[in-house]
Amino acid sequence: MIEGFRLLADHIPATAQKRLIEEVLGLTAEAPFFRPTMPGSGKPMSVQMTNLGPLGWVSDISGYRYERLHPETGRPWPSIPQALLELWRNVSGYDADPQACLVNFYSPTSRLGLHVDADETAKDAPVVSVSLGDRALFRLGGQKRSDSTSSFRLASGDVVVLGGQSRHAFHGIDRIYPGTSRLVPGGGRINLTLRRVTAPQERAGTAPDA
Ligand code: SIN
Ligand code: MN
Repeated sequence: MIEGFRLLADHIPATAQKRLIEEVLGLTAEAPFFRPTMPGSGKPMSVQMTNLGPLGWVSDISGYRYERLHPETGRPWPSIPQALLELWRNVSGYDADPQACLVNFYSPTSRLGLHVDADETAKDAPVVSVSLGDRALFRLGGQKRSDSTSSFRLASGDVVVLGGQSRHAFHGIDRIYPGTSRLVPGGGRINLTLRRVTAPQERAGTAPDA
């Protein structure tokens, strides 16, 4: 397994999962799920997305990027819930808070192709990922697309930390196991990924030494 990858199985207790899903779904009234499209082809992804935090990850025909505003409502994303900021502070080992929480919704037939999270300039910050609802088959490879991969199931309440070498490793979701959780009303899986997007000194606007 690639260095820096951590699976914190069953990290979030059932009662906290319930509170978290209620809070996140409540916020989707303000920032509804949208269906992103693939750069270049404009083909719709099978996963629906929204974001929380000052920045949100979006994908459309012109590319992948972080945006301050929801692409459909034109409004800022809601704030990242306190419980997620606390989780980040406890598990990331990073000294600045995340700026984006991507919320992915997987229906029974959704999948997410192998990719690297590469749109952040804070390359040293890990990505912290929370699984809620139906189980999923997660695939993790190395830093080259051709590297061998291993697959394992993620269950509701599991937290994954992509740090170290694994921060720049290929990963994806091969499939969902429908009906394996009752947490998400109507079924499905919700994954929350917390990301630090810009390096902290950029945010502080520190002028470089002359
Ligand atoms: C992602 O890579 O953005 C999501 C991974 C997951 O759904 O577990
Ligand atoms: Mn990813």
